Amino acid sequence: MSNDISPEISIDNLGHEDRHFAPSPEFVAQANATPALFEAAKADRLKFWEDQASQLAWDKKWSQVLDWQLPFAKWFIGGKINAAYNCLDRHVLEGRADRVAYYFEGEPGDTKVYTYGDMLKEVSKAANALTEIGIKSGDRVAIYLPMIPEAAIAMLACARIGAAHSVVFGGFSADSLVARINDAQAKLVITSDGGYRRGAAMALKPAVDEAVKSTPTVENVLVVKRTGQETAFGAKDIWWHEIVDRQSDKHECEFFDSEHPLFILYTSGTTAKPKGILHTTGGYLTQTAFSHKMVFDIKAEKDVYWCTADIGWITGHSYVVYGPMINGTTQVMYEGTPDTPSKARVFQLIEKYKVSILYTAPTLIRTWMKWGVEFPNSCDLTSLRLLGSVGEPINPEAWMWYREVIGGNRCPIVDTWWQTETGAILISPLPGITHTKPGSAMGTLPGIVAKVIDDEEREVGNGGAGYLALTEPWPSMLRGIWGEPERYAETYWSRFAGKYFAGDGAKLDDEGAIWLLGRVDDVMNVSGHRISTTEVESALVSHPAVAEAAVVGAKDEMTGQGIVAFVILRGGIEHHEGEVLNKELRDHVAKEIGPIAKPRQILVVNELPKTRSGKIMRRLLRDVAENRETGDATTLADPNIMKLIREGLNSGKSED
Ligand code: WTA
Repeated sequence: MSNDISPEISIDNLGHEDRHFAPSPEFVAQANATPALFEAAKADRLKFWEDQASQLAWDKKWSQVLDWQLPFAKWFIGGKINAAYNCLDRHVLEGRADRVAYYFEGEPGDTKVYTYGDMLKEVSKAANALTEIGIKSGDRVAIYLPMIPEAAIAMLACARIGAAHSVVFGGFSADSLVARINDAQAKLVITSDGGYRRGAAMALKPAVDEAVKSTPTVENVLVVKRTGQETAFGAKDIWWHEIVDRQSDKHECEFFDSEHPLFILYTSGTTAKPKGILHTTGGYLTQTAFSHKMVFDIKAEKDVYWCTADIGWITGHSYVVYGPMINGTTQVMYEGTPDTPSKARVFQLIEKYKVSILYTAPTLIRTWMKWGVEFPNSCDLTSLRLLGSVGEPINPEAWMWYREVIGGNRCPIVDTWWQTETGAILISPLPGITHTKPGSAMGTLPGIVAKVIDDEEREVGNGGAGYLALTEPWPSMLRGIWGEPERYAETYWSRFAGKYFAGDGAKLDDEGAIWLLGRVDDVMNVSGHRISTTEVESALVSHPAVAEAAVVGAKDEMTGQGIVAFVILRGGIEHHEGEVLNKELRDHVAKEIGPIAKPRQILVVNELPKTRSGKIMRRLLRDVAENRETGDATTLADPNIMKLIREGLNSGKSED
């Protein structure tokens, strides 16, 4: 791990920011969150979390709030709860069956509306089907679907019967799917024939067919018919509509222990093997519901909320499925890309469904900025009353544009910091309280304790920069890495003894507001997606032409960071085939990991800069990738190497 605190990100974000935006008196008067929350959490943190847990429906109340055997936490011990019951049955039993849960809009323009009553029926049928297939409490089910209602239905059906879901983003390759299925030993894969993206039916099932050749634990594949495209069908395959549609729409759910596994979600770490982040039930549901209600100021009777995240990421789990559904929220779910059929698509949907709360990522906001104001300006966006951002630091310029052009200068912006591991938002403004600053996530939510510390674990204080660490356990924290307890302790709890190290750099400004500075480890953030440098490096060296590879994340106007790879070719491979080889290598990475991991640039070099102990000095490569003067290179084994790399680059560069 490098010690430097992402210099490339910090330079930009550390500029002095004087602008403050106070919430309007009208917003304050109606806000869910009031300063009393902070007082309650400060007075008695555990009691505060107990109060939040009490908002959920429990079959049996817990006997102990927290058992903390560092680094292993248990919350609401002895409690019994069902996630799907809290998301569905409860609303129907309390008279909210007719409220819309999802307005689904397919990319081709097909629509479907699901009320909470409909969702309960669909999830019950799916739960009965899973039981018929032989899935039981404690099993793992892999879900590999596009952004369609069946994705949420499948997740909730698993939760209902106590099977842990492992959702794999539909953009990942067959090889990535194999690794995730085998690690979790999933018995079933739920997928679809395909989904619509950029105006075409994109097949998904072939990747599953390829994957299941190498996944001995998979007994069946359940296939949703979405596009109707030609689909090969084998002995393990079952059509969703053939088994689910004939089930009873009643399902009596069982209640599980508060610490029963709810899901595993794989995320990139600093090695090539993704980490299976494990979340359990009671604490996770408590904190996702609480944060959703307070950060987004949800008024479930009237708001229409749209989180644009895919179900394959943690944001889709916590803020498209569990948090919003527990709060009885009406949501928009959109299958496709924001530029199909026109660059105004998202804005047209905001107008059509009168969306009042929009939660999206900085990379999309910057894309909209590039496309131009004519697209948002062509639609009526006055239904919006609150805007959110997640996934990477949002640059002040994009924040201001979001506020002015999308929010009409009237909507508070919540820049929410959190991670797959944290389960829920931990750092964010509260919209009726916080005076926001463009680009800052501002402060911790009630009940959360975070510190910015230096290498010696000293708090940096206002005006200082360092590492973000969490010093107290929280209910929705990860419970571990699936099957790898030592890796869990080592990755998160060893850098600073007894503290959770998030992997992010942060700065406190003069007023104590928190500014996130990006990753300080070997994890890149491309369009808000975490990809490890090592993962891409090992994909590259698995190609026969590559002897060695070093990958860095370089600043990118649109995607936050772009992947730049430096490769040394094996002897005998001709470098003058440059363009062909570059394309082949990029396609190879897409095949190994998925198109999101394709390097933006591949640079062929003869040597890599290494320390005397053989560690690659990525910092210097980042300087090259970002066209900067090379920084301090005194620890290089061969001081001439950077000059040679720069000179050699003119011939090996490729970009598209
Ligand atoms: C980054 C996504 C700055 C950060 C929810 C973190 C952010 C990683 C923000 C987690 C934000 C997320 N400001 N950086 N508001 N939100 N990040 O697990 O580097 O996909 O560690 O979870 O994204 O990414 P993950």
